[in-house]
Amino acid sequence: MKKINILKSIAKEAGEIVKEGYNTHKNITHKGVVDLVTDYDIRTEKFIINALQKEFAEYIIIGEESYLKQGYSHKKAIYIDPIDGTTNFVHGLPHLAISIGLWEDGEALMAVVYNPILDELYYAIKGEGAYYNETRLCVSTQKNLQQSLIATGFPYAKVDQGIEYHWVIDSLTSLLPHIRDIRRLGAAALDLCYLAHGKTDAFYEIDLKPWDVAGGILIVLEAQGKISNLLDKPFCFEDKGIVASNGLVHSQLLEHLKVI
Ligand code: IPD
Ligand code: CA
Ligand code: CA
Repeated sequence: MKKINILKSIAKEAGEIVKEGYNTHKNITHKGVVDLVTDYDIRTEKFIINALQKEFAEYIIIGEESYLKQGYSHKKAIYIDPIDGTTNFVHGLPHLAISIGLWEDGEALMAVVYNPILDELYYAIKGEGAYYNETRLCVSTQKNLQQSLIATGFPYAKVDQGIEYHWVIDSLTSLLPHIRDIRRLGAAALDLCYLAHGKTDAFYEIDLKPWDVAGGILIVLEAQGKISNLLDKPFCFEDKGIVASNGLVHSQLLEHLKVI
């Protein structure tokens, strides 16, 4: 079986566990004041890791719930978020996804982002395009920031009301009068896919982790979108902020986002 098909079927099978959890009682624990984890995040991650180890033995697997602080850069790595959008999952909102990104030498090669509740499958292969189910994706053609719909997210550090909190508020204060509207949908992996799908025109956020974005980045790039850090330089996992867009509103958006 082609590698991408193996990744898709692992995501689909893992989706059955997430769907079961969505419709039933979950045991919730707090990783931080607002950062939640459920028994289903852990079960789903274990299932994915186990399946990947059989098929991708030469890759280091970096999963959100089992990360051992072994660093983010590896020659061959697969980054997984078993449930991106855990807060939505806990509250019964159907906007969440399993994210899997396969990287080699700092480059994304394959990605699958799957929302099992709505049965929405996004995937990409480097050099071969990005797809929603089997439809090829392309970012929007919007050139005007004022007409743009922009997605973002708020880091968990907001509760400390420190520099991250102020950055979020300052960015919104600067941006809101100059865009059509903002969306905070609650799953960064899907924010990137919706940009690739042309549903939104840009996305930005600070303090994300590799498992949040490792899948979505390739889906945006293969849909002809642009990804950078806050300095408009190529994004790497250690960067504080990620900015993704259709390419056409990128520099207009960056004018409103201070470097942090
Ligand atoms: C979160 C989501 C959210 C983003 C948070 C992430 P999780 O991931 O992607 O949209 O704003 O910063 O941590 O915790 O649901 O996997
Ligand atoms: Ca996440
Ligand atoms: Ca997660």
